[in-house]
Amino acid sequence: MTSHSPVVIDDIPQLSANEKVNAWVVKVAQLTQPNEVVWCDGSQEEFDRIATEMVEAGTLIKLNPELRPNSFLARSDASDVARVESRTFICSKEFEDAGPTNNWRNPDVMRAELNTLFAGSMRGRTMYVVPFAMGPLGGKITQYGVEITDSPYVVLSMALMTRSGSEALKYIEPESQWVKALHSVGYPLVDAEGNEREDVAWPCNDTKYITHFPEAREIISYGSGYGGNALLGKKCFALRIASAMAHDEGWMAEHMLLIQVTNPQGKKYTITGAFPSATGKTNLAMMRPKVDGWKVETIGDDIVWMRPGDDGRLYAINPEYGFFGVAPGTGYSTNPVAMDTIKKNTIFTNVALTDDGDVWWEGMTDTAPSHLIDWQGNDWTPGCGSPAAHPNGRFTVTADQCPTISPDWEAADGVPVDVILFGGRRRTNVPLVFRSKSWEHGCFLGATLGSEQTAAAEGPVGVLRRDPFAMQPFAGYHMGDYWNHWLTMGRKLGKKAPAIFQVNWFRRDKDGSFLWPGFGENIRAIEWIIDLLEGEVEPVGTPIGLLPKTEDINVDGIDVDEATLKKIFAVPAEGWEKELDVTEDYFNSIGDRVPNAMYSQLAAVREGFAKL
Ligand code: PEP
Ligand code: NA
Ligand code: MN
Repeated sequence: MTSHSPVVIDDIPQLSANEKVNAWVVKVAQLTQPNEVVWCDGSQEEFDRIATEMVEAGTLIKLNPELRPNSFLARSDASDVARVESRTFICSKEFEDAGPTNNWRNPDVMRAELNTLFAGSMRGRTMYVVPFAMGPLGGKITQYGVEITDSPYVVLSMALMTRSGSEALKYIEPESQWVKALHSVGYPLVDAEGNEREDVAWPCNDTKYITHFPEAREIISYGSGYGGNALLGKKCFALRIASAMAHDEGWMAEHMLLIQVTNPQGKKYTITGAFPSATGKTNLAMMRPKVDGWKVETIGDDIVWMRPGDDGRLYAINPEYGFFGVAPGTGYSTNPVAMDTIKKNTIFTNVALTDDGDVWWEGMTDTAPSHLIDWQGNDWTPGCGSPAAHPNGRFTVTADQCPTISPDWEAADGVPVDVILFGGRRRTNVPLVFRSKSWEHGCFLGATLGSEQTAAAEGPVGVLRRDPFAMQPFAGYHMGDYWNHWLTMGRKLGKKAPAIFQVNWFRRDKDGSFLWPGFGENIRAIEWIIDLLEGEVEPVGTPIGLLPKTEDINVDGIDVDEATLKKIFAVPAEGWEKELDVTEDYFNSIGDRVPNAMYSQLAAVREGFAKL
């Protein structure tokens, strides 16, 4: 049983050289009334101490050290398993500035409501102060933040996902820009009358708020302990707040992977790719190419920050330090590199526990073990009717454990980008790979990105779920202004801008089967991209962009014949004319901040079809 002996405010350590950080820590402690305040130093000893405390308290399960050394399983509350977009708010001063793709709250009204929720919200708990960097320490593209949280699970996860602790704190100097990130699970152990209650394995609150104050560069999150809602360096800072900062300051914060691809001649290309959630970003980031002589090296699998360098090219970093990947569907046949990455020092969340103390999930192996404990802690047997792992079960692990991690992954000022990919999950219309006609046309491809609902029948473009630039849930300001920022960056970069391509691994045949084998064979689409940039092949002009000649796609050793290639690269006029009508309605729904260039690109594609 805990008891309430709130921290004495005068005793709170003041460890930052920046008085604003110290003052904020005190202010939050006064409001939330924790038992103690702990500044995290980011050391291994600290990680081990907190992990041990959590195992003793029953909030983490230590996995069998012989099978999965120094690794843990967390089981969340059944109601707290994913990002909650309906409770995610952009609190810009003006309603208009959040745009039609975000929920908005007036910042003063929101702060008042949050103040009420946070009053006493950490009673009986430890308040942790986690200074962190997004990006290599001291780099030109790097930004800093401080997360205050009452969740030890968040502390451990932030330690894996960011460069955190004393080293990061040193970079927050008196005049530095830094982001305030406040988090509470909203489950105090002592109420205002002093009544105590037992802790639970995964404390959270039915009331949840994931709020962002882009003008103040501030995040306040309440009621959830789950990844994207609670590890505030990730989606909240590195995408929503950073996209607003990047718009104001002339850089880019994107929902992208970052890889380097080396061809058989030994030439290396840097490729970023924006793909919506659940379209295989982690798989592509860790691809083991199925064509001899090609190599893929990993830099990031979820977020990329980019800034023009002194030479006028666009430089990219992965602001994160780890991977927070979806476990189900990850196995040696789909992503062997991820499987090798998570062999040790990994936190698993909401996956199944095997009888010998290891983890399992659907898709890890072809056949399930005969008995498991499922993600909710219940006995499980194959065929019992429910999944053993939650479909959004996760692994959290540092990037340096990835066998394909690039030697450049911590390059302080990033690596220059050659190619930008946009890819959705499209059963129809969109070919395997093609090049945009220009940067502006590339922005049109980004703005119209989307996925069809999997249950959709053949050809119904009307049920396209739009996810522009894969940023629908993550752009921290008006989507029309965000598109305009992309156009502005292209004008600034001019001839040095990366080449933009669209890819689609998910096109289907009439019978619903996939036309392209995917995974490690996707290197063949990248092979064409690089051949094109090297001038070794010529593209074919079509209304939607520059397509490969089918004979330029390397299908040696795979079962893809000419008739299939024709289907993979078909540009059906009827399907596209319907899709362009839907796109016009979609642009109209974003409103009058949609740049005119988007409508002229739409008109140009339409004209292209009219001329056929
Ligand atoms: C998350 O939910 O925290 C997350 C990383 O989201 P996603 O996998 O959808 O990008
Ligand atoms: Na860390
Ligand atoms: Mn993501």
